[in-house]
Parts: sequence; structure tokens; C-alpha cells
Amino acid sequence: MKIAFVGKGGSGKTTLSSLFIRHLATTGAPVIAVDADINQHLGAALGLDEAEAAALPAMGERLSLIKDHLRGTNPRIASAETMIKTTPPGDGSRLLRVREDNPVYDACARPVELDGGAVRLMVTGPFTDADLGVACYHSKTGAVELCLNHLVDGRDEYVVVDMTAGSDSFASGMFTRFDITFLVAEPTRKGVSVYRQYKEYARDFGVVLKVIGNKVQGQDDLDFLRAEVGDDLLVTVGHSDWVRAMEKGRPPRFELLEDVNRRALRRLQTAVEATYQLRDWESYTRQMVHFHLKNAQSWGNERTGTDLAAQVDPGFVLSESVAANA
Ligand SMILES: Nc1ncnc2c1ncn2[C@@H]1O[C@H](COP(=O)(O)OP(=O)(O)OP(=O)(O)O)[C@@H](O)[C@H]1O
Ligand SMILES: [Mg+2]
Repeated sequence: MKIAFVGKGGSGKTTLSSLFIRHLATTGAPVIAVDADINQHLGAALGLDEAEAAALPAMGERLSLIKDHLRGTNPRIASAETMIKTTPPGDGSRLLRVREDNPVYDACARPVELDGGAVRLMVTGPFTDADLGVACYHSKTGAVELCLNHLVDGRDEYVVVDMTAGSDSFASGMFTRFDITFLVAEPTRKGVSVYRQYKEYARDFGVVLKVIGNKVQGQDDLDFLRAEVGDDLLVTVGHSDWVRAMEKGRPPRFELLEDVNRRALRRLQTAVEATYQLRDWESYTRQMVHFHLKNAQSWGNERTGTDLAAQVDPGFVLSESVAANA
């Protein structure tokens, strides 16, 4: 199951993704947590101190290693240099599984101990000005997108991505890589405007988008969100003293999280599980090809000096059986 948390800056993406990751860890499920946000705070929200968070390997700096591993012996991908963030897997590519050990996790993932079990944490690394502009070629989230497109996840295996609702993820197709996207919105006009923009992009791609109202206080906030986002509102979360204590550097045990917030996290998990039956590997593969061809045409062919459409393996469909035979 691939899950994204998106929303306006400061809405609570990192807080809610970290709570959801902590919740999943208590169920014993294998979890890969990915920090793909502009502000890299997921490590801290999962309890790492400053030095530990700073020591996390940046995926953005290990792009060549990631590409070389993933392209494997795929004859359609001549070199890591011609592999762009949207290059889809094909026959000969190496696929990733959630539970395995592999060179990509060795290089880019670190275990984080939580109450209840360890998760793997991967981070893109801090964004620079170039990442936020039009530098598609070197985009930090490109490393995450490549991994998502090569990752075959099963039921009860979780990949949780804390990310920004930026134009980069819309242009590349990153926003279509998830079983469900949780849009975190405060009950404000700005909070819901990000929702509208996302909904607009998502409409043609079957993206399952659900809103988590955050910092919701009282009926008026709730009414506002209901009126603005309707049935897309999945759950609301109020101010959490547990979160505040963690922010003070005094994280209580996770079992002390407020009951109402614990219930909200269970609702998220139920919603995630319900999307599993919608999982359609053929359309998942088709969409990555769609965005690859789009990126090839708009900048990739020119940048790499090759016809990147030739990287598409027409008979290939990502699936658990393909991963088992790879
Ligand atoms: N439900 C909550 N209860 C208490 N504090 C909260 C809650 N949600 C978020 N916060 C606080 O609000 C601040 C912003 O939250 P957070 O960092 O999760 O937002 P973000 O969307 O990830 O922001 P950024 O865009 O900067 O990455 C943090 O200090 C966080 O502790
Ligand atoms: Mg954040």
C-alpha cells in the first residue's frame, strides 16, 4: 500500500504522517517511511535527534546508485545517465519489495525504532533553490518516484510518503503513484485551496483523495470543512497535547496518544485497506508510461540526447508475480 500525505505548508503533513507511521508500527506491519517534503522534518517527528536526522543518507545524492540498481539488465535502458525520474521498469529491471534487503535500502534507508517496532526511513535530502524551480532533471523527488515505480508492495505492507503538493509532483506523475492520498487541510481558505488544486489535477487519473482536517476546533471548523470539501472529508484531528509534548522534545509513549486521535488513525488505516481492492497494476503501469512519454517529449529527449520513448517495454506490467519471477 502506497500512501501520500500532502497539503499546504505547515498544515500538519509531517505530524500526521509520523503519527500514522507510529500507529502502523504498533500493528507490526512492515513500513517504509519516506520524507519527500521541502522541509525535511519526518525524522525528527519520528523521534530522531538533530544529529541522527542530519546523518540520514540523502536519496537525492545517491541517484546514480539507485538508477544503476533499478535498471538491472534492462536492455532498453542503456545507462544511468539516460534514465530519468519517469523511466518505467521493463523486462530485466530490478524491482523493490517492502520487506527485503537490497542495495537501495542499504544505501538510502535507516531503521528507526518506535514503540512497537522499527520502520525504515528514507529521505530525499534538503531541497535547494534549483529543486524548487524547473530543474526537472535533478529533482530530489525523482529518486522517490523511481523507487515507487519499481516497488511492488503487497497487502499489509506500507510505504508512507510525506510530500509537498508541488508542481513537480504533478508534472512527473508522482501524484498518481499512491493507493490513497491524504490531503491535510486546516479549516481555512488557504488550506482548502490546495485541496481544490489537487482535486483538479487528480480528476483524470483516478487518484483517491481524502481530506484530513487538522487543528480543527469545534463545530464551526467542522462545518466549514464539510461545506468546502464535502464527502472527501475523511476525518478531523484537533489540537494534540501528545504532539505538543513531542515537539518539546519529551515524546510520551505512543500508547498515551489521545483516544480520539488514535481512532482517527484507525480510520485512516481502514480507508487505506479499502483502496487495496481498487489496486490495478495495469493502470498503474499505464500511467507511469503516460507520464514518461510526456516528460520525454517536454524535456527528457533533449536533455539526454536519446529517444526516451524507446525505454518503454510494451509488454511489461508491474505486479507481484513479475516481482517474484524477477
Ligand atoms: N494536531 C496537532 N496538534 C498539535 N500540534 C500540531 C498538530 N498538527 C500540527 N501541529 C504542529 O504544527 C506545526 C506544523 O506541523 P507540521 O510540521 O506537521 O506541518 P507540515 O505540513 O509538515 O509543515 P511543512 O510544510 O513545514 O513541512 C508543528 O509544530 C506541529 O507540531
Ligand atoms: Mg513537513
